[in-house]
Amino acid sequence: MSQPQRILSGIQPSGRLHLGNYFGAIREHVRLQEQGESYYFIADYHALTSLRDAKALRAHILDTAVTYLACGLDPARAVLFRQSDVPEVTELTWLLLSVSPMAMLENAVSYKDKVARGIPAEAGLFTYPVLMAADILAQDTDVVPVGRDQVQHVEIARDLAAKFNRDYGAEVFRVPDYRLGEAPYVPGTDGAKMSKSYGNTIEIFSEGKELEKAVMGIKTDSATPADKKDPEASTIYRLYALVASPAERDAMADRFRAGGLGYGEAKKALLGKVNEVFADVRARARALRADPSRVEETLRRGAERARANARAVLHRARTACGLS
Ligand code: ADP
Ligand code: TRP
Repeated sequence: MSQPQRILSGIQPSGRLHLGNYFGAIREHVRLQEQGESYYFIADYHALTSLRDAKALRAHILDTAVTYLACGLDPARAVLFRQSDVPEVTELTWLLLSVSPMAMLENAVSYKDKVARGIPAEAGLFTYPVLMAADILAQDTDVVPVGRDQVQHVEIARDLAAKFNRDYGAEVFRVPDYRLGEAPYVPGTDGAKMSKSYGNTIEIFSEGKELEKAVMGIKTDSATPADKKDPEASTIYRLYALVASPAERDAMADRFRAGGLGYGEAKKALLGKVNEVFADVRARARALRADPSRVEETLRRGAERARANARAVLHRARTACGLS
């Protein structure tokens, strides 16, 4: 019998999660738990590159775990863990850094983007993709489901796995591949990629007036309700298509094309759907937040499994390098 695929992905606990994280990552992760051995983790070491507030980091870690569980991650099927509970990845990072070409890291677009946005150019941020490669390689991962923005990082992990194996003449690392989900690019309220760092998010756990403000604030052009409009050019429609049923989605697309649907009305329909789709998730999240020790126990058990894998991989890597 062939081995089941090993699937792994991570999310940084750097803020409250939004529809881009849900449709681009979490929903895909939850679906994939049926298809292979799945490992998902909270990338708290990575978050240190952008967050300098211990209290906020602790809160975001719990929030990310709650979000995964509320969105349907089943701890009996998938392993959920906290990156910093597997310190072996930091040692593996050093072994990988030692074979990392400078030019490969200098070409990483995410580093350049972040620095251009004002994040200090620190060595942790620069070497971020190598820590990410260690996360992936430490679990003998076959497939990494990610959004488009992370593809280059998975390619770096591939390159480093192959280079390390070549440099040491040993089959130490399994070479991973990325996989894009159905919604690799969710637009934010300003039409650009939805991202915590752009302040254009609609958060999964936003409700009431706060949610209404975000949805009603989606930027639109100056077309009047009577104008015929291209649905695909509208952020409102593109978000609605994610939360509505196929029939509801097609009905809105037809009304955009025919003219007669104003942006205000479309936004209200979107708001209603967001509330409907996330009602159960929000209720489950409330129950989980009321019982943080249960969440902590899930993370602890996940860490044991992830750590056992990481230890075995690190042992292979150390042996290949000549470390005892
Ligand atoms: P952010 O850009 O808000 O900081 P992260 O970089 O923490 O989000 O992303 C966590 C996961 O969610 C990644 O797998 C990423 O690809 C996915 N993701 C984030 N924003 C989007 C988006 N707008 N569309 C699709 N996927 C996204
Ligand atoms: N860099 C990823 C992000 O910002 C998070 C991450 C860290 C990750 N390590 C990973 C994703 C390993 C997939 C695999 O979204």
